[in-house]
Amino acid sequence: MLILGIESSCDETALALVDDNGIRAAVVSSQADIHALFGGVVPEIASREHARLIGPLLDCLFQQANFNHDPWNNIDAIAVTRGPGLMGSLLVGIAFAKSLSLAHDIPLIGVDHLQAHLLAAEFENSITWPSLGVLISGGHTHLYRMDSPVDMTVLGKTIDDAAGEACDKFAKAAGLPYPGGALLDALGQRGTADPHLFPRPYTHNDNLNFSFSGLKTAGSLYLSQHSEAHFPPGDTPARERLHLASQELCDTAASYLLAIAETLTIKTSRAMAEFSPKSLVVAGGVAANSVIRREFSKLAQERGIPLIIPRLALCGDNAAMVAKAGWHMARAGRFHSLSLSAIPRGQSIPQDWKSMEASRS
Ligand code: KG4
Ligand code: ZN
Repeated sequence: MLILGIESSCDETALALVDDNGIRAAVVSSQADIHALFGGVVPEIASREHARLIGPLLDCLFQQANFNHDPWNNIDAIAVTRGPGLMGSLLVGIAFAKSLSLAHDIPLIGVDHLQAHLLAAEFENSITWPSLGVLISGGHTHLYRMDSPVDMTVLGKTIDDAAGEACDKFAKAAGLPYPGGALLDALGQRGTADPHLFPRPYTHNDNLNFSFSGLKTAGSLYLSQHSEAHFPPGDTPARERLHLASQELCDTAASYLLAIAETLTIKTSRAMAEFSPKSLVVAGGVAANSVIRREFSKLAQERGIPLIIPRLALCGDNAAMVAKAGWHMARAGRFHSLSLSAIPRGQSIPQDWKSMEASRS
């Protein structure tokens, strides 16, 4: 089975082809540099960029796949991210997917972006079920009980900011450009963490939710009182100037990232008491973080279960994960009609799939 995946929920336009053996071709175009000029994603610009890029990217994808026949004769389903995400951005991908589905008479599948992130881990290793899923991205922090690739239940989530947002805001307060998570990681790797500098927020309770807004405030307050822990301004790309950062900033970054990682592992280890997961999946953009990878690998080792994390290139937004989720949905007989809706952040994804026959009627 060959699935075309389409991702446009935020500021990455991505397309991929996934078959039974894995990723056949994948392209992604990031708008991060454009949004960095504004210090965060500008939704109107994001949707315009998706609309500009999505067509040419499909040509690139087909070139990379090197088909020696009409690609449309071989694609079994078109999977598209339906949410959560920015409404205008989602609508570009969904309208594109619907037109391709209609023009080439190929079934359509709407995919939950967060569940797709978790399934990206399957490109590394097969997941043993039930699994505990930790989804940590720019906009979301969710804990899932995963009973199968198409059966996931939310056990807990953030009640305010996401782990990625806490990283990006702290990085911004330290003088780093948007999105600062990966730069903060690079600085933290050159520092020594003080485990007592920042709190492990919202862990003195018995629920499985998170709250990172207090940590974000504690981080900003600390930076406002410590001018030595600031990244020096300059005209060249920040990544090329990381060696100019002060030791104080590197140490503070290491301490802050440890606070985030330990907050995540504290709640994750409590979630393990709810059921006995046979594996631990950690995914989403923030799963690229080295401290988080290290702390989760310790936790999995302690519990004697495998840790499955996507490779770095598949932690952030990509379309291979969307195609993979679509591949599972197609196998489970779950499709959508042309009335597929986009779901904004904050709303749950409806379970409104249909059989292949019903999706076409
Ligand atoms: O999953 P993703 O690509 O997009 C969303 O669906 O939100 O996640 C993006 C988030 C951003 O907050 C970015 O700063 C963060 O992932 N991120 C990192 C690292 N790489 C990306 N945060 C910490 N350390 C990293 N290495
Ligand atoms: Zn994402």
